[in-house]
Amino acid sequence: MLEKDYVDKACENFRILLTQQLERADAMEKGEGKKDFASLDKIKIGICGGDGIGPVIVEQAKRLMDKLLADELISGKVELRTIEGLTIENRLAKKESVPKAVLEEIKKCDVLLKGPTTTPKGGTMESANVTLRRELDLYANVRPVTVPEEGIDWIFYRENTEGEYVLGSRGVEVPGKLAMDFKVTTEQGTRRIAKAAFDYAKANGKNNVAIVTKANIMKKTDGNFSRICHEVAEDYPEIKADDWYVDIMTANLINRKIRNSFQVFVLPNLYGDIITDEAAEIQGGVGTAGSANIGDHYAMFEAIHGSALRMVEDGLAAYANPSSLFKATEMMIRHIGLNEQADILERALQICNEEEKAVVVTGDRDGATCRKFTDYVISKI
Ligand code: IPM
Ligand code: MG
Repeated sequence: MLEKDYVDKACENFRILLTQQLERADAMEKGEGKKDFASLDKIKIGICGGDGIGPVIVEQAKRLMDKLLADELISGKVELRTIEGLTIENRLAKKESVPKAVLEEIKKCDVLLKGPTTTPKGGTMESANVTLRRELDLYANVRPVTVPEEGIDWIFYRENTEGEYVLGSRGVEVPGKLAMDFKVTTEQGTRRIAKAAFDYAKANGKNNVAIVTKANIMKKTDGNFSRICHEVAEDYPEIKADDWYVDIMTANLINRKIRNSFQVFVLPNLYGDIITDEAAEIQGGVGTAGSANIGDHYAMFEAIHGSALRMVEDGLAAYANPSSLFKATEMMIRHIGLNEQADILERALQICNEEEKAVVVTGDRDGATCRKFTDYVISKI
């Protein structure tokens, strides 16, 4: 193809992208209001194993829920539904990042607990996470990180449906010459994540929200993100909103002198992705932090880490650390309104991971297996 043809094709394509993104923004504007879990007769929890170590840790999370939610499962208030087919093999075979039939089953549930899924590098197949976040409109990626002995109590509100991700598989390439990706920030998309962050701060007695961008460089997208966050902040006069650039914020998080002064963070998608891995590592590793993907209608809960195919290849899958997914399970149970049960699990995880540490998972043969650790957590419920 001639260079000129690439340009023509890209320009034509850009019109489509822009139009579609405007349509997405308009659809957001309409919104339907938030689901009220208390009004549901039955809450359906979908469970997807995913890839790599996913099925191993998800199986143990299910055992945990069988114990923790025994009463609700018997009474029928809660139903656990195993959903098959969200595997890399099935996705590649169907050439769909989330096969239609799987998505349909997921949409019949209210919330989803999901094991990590493998994302093929390069090519055009989108990450299953990105597809699910978009299809279920899970706009808030909420990731808490705590280090009690240091007074660290952070919560990250990462925008989860746009930014660098929304068109991440639809960039332009002139082979051998140039590649270009797109980043999208909408008014409504930013407003709703900012509102979620400030609402959380207000409801939890926090007086500070850090807005993390690179608005000095990404002037349009991040510039608007910061502006809109400040506009939202005006409705919360008791909460201070501070701008930070993402580079210095990554440094601040490893600065022991100041890091425990941060409370709530609100960030565009990609910075949120990166910073939350850093934060999780500070807490004790990416294996320890939970991740909630919250929308007004659906919500999906998962481990913050990936599918760790290498562990499976090395025969170590049974030694995978389920803590991150257990934390996500706790967040899910709280999200559906079962606060008492969530508190019980929170307490059990504190005892097992922070206080007693009688059974420790290391991800290797020198540590406990995932199942053994789960037995330990269950013994504290
Ligand atoms: C995460 C993950 C995902 C992301 C991947 C698996 C697509 O890193 O949830 O943080 O980049 O969002
Ligand atoms: Mg990530």
